[in-house]
Amino acid sequence: MAVFLYITTIVVGILSAFLYSPLKREALILGVLRPLSSWEKVHGIENRVIEDTVACEDLHYHEPSGLLYSACMDDMKKASGWFPGSGTFDHPENPSFGTLVVIDSKTMKTTKLSLAGFPYPVFVTHGISIYSHPSDNKTVFIFAVNHHPNQIQSSAAPEQPKADSRVELFIHTVGSDTAKHLRSISHPLIRTPNDLLALSDKEFLVTNCHYYRDGLMRFVEDLSHIAWTDIIHVNIDGDNVTATAILNSIGTNNGLGWGPNEQVLIGDATGGNLYFAGLVVENKTLSVSHYVSADGIVDNPSFFSDPYTEFDGKDYSGYILPGLGRPIDLAVSFRDPTGKAPIPSLVWFVPASAGKKGEGSDKQARLLFSDDGSSLRGVTTAVMVAIDPATNDGKREGWLFLTGVVAPNMLATKIDFATILS
Ligand SMILES: *[C@@H]1O[C@H](CO)[C@@H](O)[C@H](O)[C@H]1NC(C)=O
Ligand SMILES: *[C@@H]1O[C@H](CO)[C@@H](O)[C@H](O)[C@H]1NC(C)=O
Ligand SMILES: *[C@@H]1O[C@H](CO)[C@@H](O)[C@H](O)[C@H]1NC(C)=O
Repeated sequence: MAVFLYITTIVVGILSAFLYSPLKREALILGVLRPLSSWEKVHGIENRVIEDTVACEDLHYHEPSGLLYSACMDDMKKASGWFPGSGTFDHPENPSFGTLVVIDSKTMKTTKLSLAGFPYPVFVTHGISIYSHPSDNKTVFIFAVNHHPNQIQSSAAPEQPKADSRVELFIHTVGSDTAKHLRSISHPLIRTPNDLLALSDKEFLVTNCHYYRDGLMRFVEDLSHIAWTDIIHVNIDGDNVTATAILNSIGTNNGLGWGPNEQVLIGDATGGNLYFAGLVVENKTLSVSHYVSADGIVDNPSFFSDPYTEFDGKDYSGYILPGLGRPIDLAVSFRDPTGKAPIPSLVWFVPASAGKKGEGSDKQARLLFSDDGSSLRGVTTAVMVAIDPATNDGKREGWLFLTGVVAPNMLATKIDFATILS
């Protein structure tokens, strides 16, 4: 894998010097044109490290409680040795036993939830999604991917997939320090789960981020952008799990998120695009309306809905797209058990109007944050939480929370809306 990547760096690098798209774009996304030695940092006004957040891939804001929810692998060495989401299968004998983590968006204090009734010694966390009934915003259902190694895979049964990935469902009460395990959800169509989007406490969408789990063909899939994989709609009814593929037109579909008015956001990782889609639950259709492009990998997208527009009549709402700065190095850097090999981070902002087809689809993604990996290693999710201007000397600012799948910590960076988002 790594060798292929090095050869690609050289080939793409040379060719892109002479040619324009699509090779130039490929080189841009892979980070070939962004050498680490001259990395330009773009940070907010102030940075804060969030303690006790080791190797957390995903992050979601629960607005009613002001809390952020994440799932962390908790151990850098284990995360770097077994993580099917990045094609890392080196140490199936030593997988993580991570947990769910809650972060107070004001105090930035972390609470690790204990997992009541969780039956496995393995919790290799990846994408999560949270759901609260409109009538009960204190109860949070948490869906979380678990990349369990496949116990029946061995040299005697090499045809078996290496991972037996599944989705775990928990129930949690805001303010408590436990999450009760309700059940595991497995289905043959849930193959390479990456991210989830909860539609209710019984229904969710899941991306299979690749068709090929590893090896040369996974690499071909990453580079060719051929849509071999899919998004699955899953329904749980008692013991019955029904699953249907509802979209199979986006190669490397990866992160999922909500836009305004139940718009579904789909990150196309190696294509570097954010797709906007509409979901009709009744007939299980997901229709893509349009997309915007960023200059790199697009991981878990989120939408920032500005809650303080009435304060000054300005609306800073928009889409936030995180991405790895040099995916070309990822296969090697990811495997560093010390968590030190640099994995740079990039985060873009796209104004809300770009989500409406025909209105602002020409809007460019603009850089909001950029780091060589020393402050935030390999961002996979970025979520903005606004600060109430009434408690902030009238200033319109927000904390951008950043997390990375093999980052030793999360980071919050304070963003001044008027200079960066307007
Ligand atoms: C949460 O629920 C309470 C009680 O039903 C309600 O008063 C409050 O407005 C809700 N908060 C949000 C943000 O929905
Ligand atoms: C599961 O599905 C079967 C076949 O459709 C049905 O007979 C059964 O009642 C279902 N069980 C539950 C608990 O919904
Ligand atoms: C699904 O429902 C929507 C809205 O009713 C409709 O526009 C669409 O054509 C339906 N799609 C299919 C495949 O039936």
